[in-house]
Amino acid sequence: MANINTNKEGVAFDCDDEDTILRAALRAGIGMPYSCNVGSCGNCRVELIDGAVEHLRADAPAWSERDLKRNRWLGCQAKPKGDCTIKFRADDSYIPRVRPIRQGARLVGVTPITRDISEFAFRLDSATDFDPGQYALLSVPGVEGARAYSMCNLPGEDLWRFQIRRVPEGAATGALFGQLETGAEIRIDGPYGTAQLRTDTPRDILLLAGGSGLSPMVSIARGARAAGLLGDRRIHFYYGCRSADDAIAPDFVENELGFVDSFVTAISDPAGFDGWTGPKGFLHDVVLADLGGALKEHEIYFAGPPVMAAAIQKTAHENGVPMDQIHFDEFY
Ligand SMILES: Cc1cc2nc3c(=O)[nH]c(=O)nc-3n(C[C@H](O)[C@H](O)[C@H](O)COP(=O)(O)OP(=O)(O)OC[C@H]3O[C@@H](n4cnc5c(N)ncnc54)[C@H](O)[C@@H]3O)c2cc1C
Ligand code: FES
Repeated sequence: MANINTNKEGVAFDCDDEDTILRAALRAGIGMPYSCNVGSCGNCRVELIDGAVEHLRADAPAWSERDLKRNRWLGCQAKPKGDCTIKFRADDSYIPRVRPIRQGARLVGVTPITRDISEFAFRLDSATDFDPGQYALLSVPGVEGARAYSMCNLPGEDLWRFQIRRVPEGAATGALFGQLETGAEIRIDGPYGTAQLRTDTPRDILLLAGGSGLSPMVSIARGARAAGLLGDRRIHFYYGCRSADDAIAPDFVENELGFVDSFVTAISDPAGFDGWTGPKGFLHDVVLADLGGALKEHEIYFAGPPVMAAAIQKTAHENGVPMDQIHFDEFY
């Protein structure tokens, strides 16, 4: 167990042997900025003033030689070697409503959704709250490093469900789809993330999911309904995928999301247009063509690969959507 002192007066916390500085800070209720939790976004950078740390993931994409020279480390990857003092910019908006915990979980079922997305349901050792749109870190046996997956269900049950897209040659998804059998045990750490449903705004809700970004958008749609927001707000759900073969089956949409005001699938790859009569093109272009100037009247949530996230942010910015109306996680 290490003690982490900070530049913020009176703010210190313990970090156990399994933890990283970011995760320990959040468990202690401290607002340390972050996003991905897997070393890719760089939002969790801290300066090491005293002590020594090592990175969980030596090849973290968001960390460079320049950072090392300046003694800057990624909080989500940095494991203290003993007591440390760090400097970071605390931000209360990152104080978790539900503090993340590590616990065991057992696979209870897998349900296919598309040809490469399935829903995995895990029963947690103890029922744990979360906000729709949040994610957890799953440690899959035999796979180095935890992976982030977003819950698609609502809090209040001891199951956490994740809609996961199989990545060709992927280590974690290869194990989840290929080896993990019902009853298998994994470790789950969460909840994490700040792109959760906002219930305090009057605007209609626009949900944009690219491929593996489906899960948190489904949870947010369900959360909006459960919170009673549908009486005076509409939900428009856009799903972007490459080819017609990747589209979600209409009966899944009807059964699981029949309550949303519109569900649009857009296909982006001309090679996959065969037989497709719906919208064609990238999600941000399709949404803009549909909503135009009305974009800024929506609370916008999105999840998907960084290239999609960048395109949607640019489109939103160019069309006058204030930044505080946009909530997203980039899926690295
Ligand atoms: C906040 C967030 C939420 C996400 N939610 C979903 C979701 O709901 N559904 C979904 O299908 N996908 C989601 N993803 C993507 C998912 O986490 C994985 O990147 C993806 O499943 C590929 O994993 P893989 O191991 O199969 O592929 P691989 O190609 O083996 O690994 C790819 C990714 O794993 C990470 N990684 C690699 N090595 C390590 C390591 N040692 N330690 C930690 N991370 C490592 C890197 O981010 C890399 O991009 C989310 C990602 C993020 C950041
Ligand atoms: S790199 Fe640490 S939160 Fe993204």
